[in-house]
Amino acid sequence: MQPLRDETFRRITALMHGAIGLSFNESKKPLVSSRLAPRVQKLGMDGYDAYIDLISRPDSGGEFQMAVDLLTTNETYFFREPAHFDMLERELSALKPSSVAVWSAASSFGDEAYSTAMLLADLQAQGRIGSAWSVLGTDISDRVLRSAIEAIYPEERLRNVSPTRMRRHCLRGEGRSEGMAQVGQELRRHVRFGQLNLCRPIEKLGPFDVVFLRNVLIYFDVPTKVAVVDRVLAELRPGGLFFIGTAEGRVPCSTPLQTLAPGAFRKVA
Ligand SMILES: C[S@@+](CC[C@H](N)C(=O)[O-])C[C@H]1O[C@@H](n2cnc3c(N)ncnc32)[C@H](O)[C@@H]1O
Repeated sequence: MQPLRDETFRRITALMHGAIGLSFNESKKPLVSSRLAPRVQKLGMDGYDAYIDLISRPDSGGEFQMAVDLLTTNETYFFREPAHFDMLERELSALKPSSVAVWSAASSFGDEAYSTAMLLADLQAQGRIGSAWSVLGTDISDRVLRSAIEAIYPEERLRNVSPTRMRRHCLRGEGRSEGMAQVGQELRRHVRFGQLNLCRPIEKLGPFDVVFLRNVLIYFDVPTKVAVVDRVLAELRPGGLFFIGTAEGRVPCSTPLQTLAPGAFRKVA
């Protein structure tokens, strides 16, 4: 197969930046090339030019989405960065709200949304919050969203879920499904998923009490990060909690935030 030419690399990065805010500098050329190569070969194309021609077409038959999936990582797992869930538990236990609305704004396969749902269901059972709680998970990728709705996971991804929570909220697979678990129906009733591109204007979704925007800002350049964070924070009620990945540094935005802990903030009222 022909190597990825500089001009073709620039076409790919311009397309991805314009459509979904992904930002790749020159140093990412080997990564882009190695992630797309197996797909280009599988489609029987002799080079990247034909592939970019295909994904640039509005009728690319889902191939644009496939390219997005190949160029981003959907890695996630239950109760990732547990300090954020501990903070949420402390906050809600102190406030005892009758309703809680949470948004997992780059939900990937749904692990973050269902982790939150497990926590909220347990708090409700203990009388620390009311019954009107809900979680919305959104992502750009319809592949991960379809999987999130099914809510079936390899048990490895549930390694941070306590045995009590596993028993209460998950059905363990048997026979051919051994090693897999499905989130129970009762919990799934409180969780919805939908497709949303964070780089486009957001139709009114909130106000939410809590927003997770974790481990997605890494893909964006600084102006895109600022626009995305401000757009997402417009859906968070004043005083609400906002989480990004603990390794993602400072939050670039113009919305006033109070820093609580690494990756954890409160929207200033
Ligand atoms: C690494 S996962 C983060 C999952 C979860 N928040 C966590 O921290 O475990 C990043 C997700 O961001 C999604 N994503 C990338 N660009 C996006 C965009 N412009 N709009 C919405 N989601 C996007 C990807 O599809 C991927 O599922």
